[in-house]
Amino acid sequence: MNFELINVRTEAGRVGIVTLNRPKQLNALNDQLMDELGAALKAFDADPAIGCAIITGSEKAFAAGADIGAMASYSFADVYKGDYITRNWEQIRSIRKPVIAAVSGFALGGGCELAMMCDFIIAADNARFGQPEIKLGIIPGAGGTQRLPRAVGKAKAMDLVLTGRMMDASEAERAGLVSRVVALDKLMDEALGAALMICDYSQMAVMAAKESINRAFEGSLNDGIVFERRLFHALFATADQKEGMDAFVNKRKAVFQNK
Ligand code: HXC
Repeated sequence: MNFELINVRTEAGRVGIVTLNRPKQLNALNDQLMDELGAALKAFDADPAIGCAIITGSEKAFAAGADIGAMASYSFADVYKGDYITRNWEQIRSIRKPVIAAVSGFALGGGCELAMMCDFIIAADNARFGQPEIKLGIIPGAGGTQRLPRAVGKAKAMDLVLTGRMMDASEAERAGLVSRVVALDKLMDEALGAALMICDYSQMAVMAAKESINRAFEGSLNDGIVFERRLFHALFATADQKEGMDAFVNKRKAVFQNK
């Protein structure tokens, strides 16, 4: 398979590694990138030699969010009829083998949500997590309002989503969002070590463990996600979404009019 916006390789013939590769845009996640990511993960999932996958980004950014430039002109009709997010991002949820997020730098908005879609997150000490969508006149739309409170509790999730502030790696570890924090230059070694350990176990036991933990975690997640997506799509009908994203694209401060 030929990919443009991700790099794909295997390690020790057993671990599939996807590196997000839009460095100039801080790995902003557009449709093409998410299509490629879904295809790569599905191929790893179908390959009997692969026992675990890792998604990573660059030192500066795991991913700074969904691509605001692409979203800026979307209408409600575009996102609702096009099944935005559901169509390709949700493919990650169908992967049955473990997927580890190895996060350095910014994991914001959709980037934080992508990391949370993975089974666990190993963070470098320079990682910064946040859901800044509120600054753009929208809300998280790839599961953030559902997975973040499950991971860090209501108080911190409300704090992060309503203020749009970032939290550093040690706060994220204390809050339970990430499983381990390591020095930046040790990030891939640590993630690979965990992946290889998983690869040594029975694939069936590993898949069953993942499925079972997700059962506990996702009780009413489906309803929550659908609810969130409808609100997220609806916000593309507001003038404030246009203003928030236009302000970002044109590097000015947004002035919201509550309409
Ligand atoms: C498109 C982005 C981007 C994004 C950064 N860039 N984030 N482009 N979408 N999400 C681009 C910038 O426009 C810039 O392009 C280049 O990447 C480098 O970014 P800078 O801002 O110059 O870097 P820096 O000053 O270091 O600031 C880093 C940053 C900032 C704090 C991460 O870029 C930022 O605030 N980005 C937006 C974060 C955000 O709001 N994320 C949520 C998006 S909404 P040029 O061409 O100028 O060099 C979202 C919706 C989720 O994710 C719901 C559905 C999934």
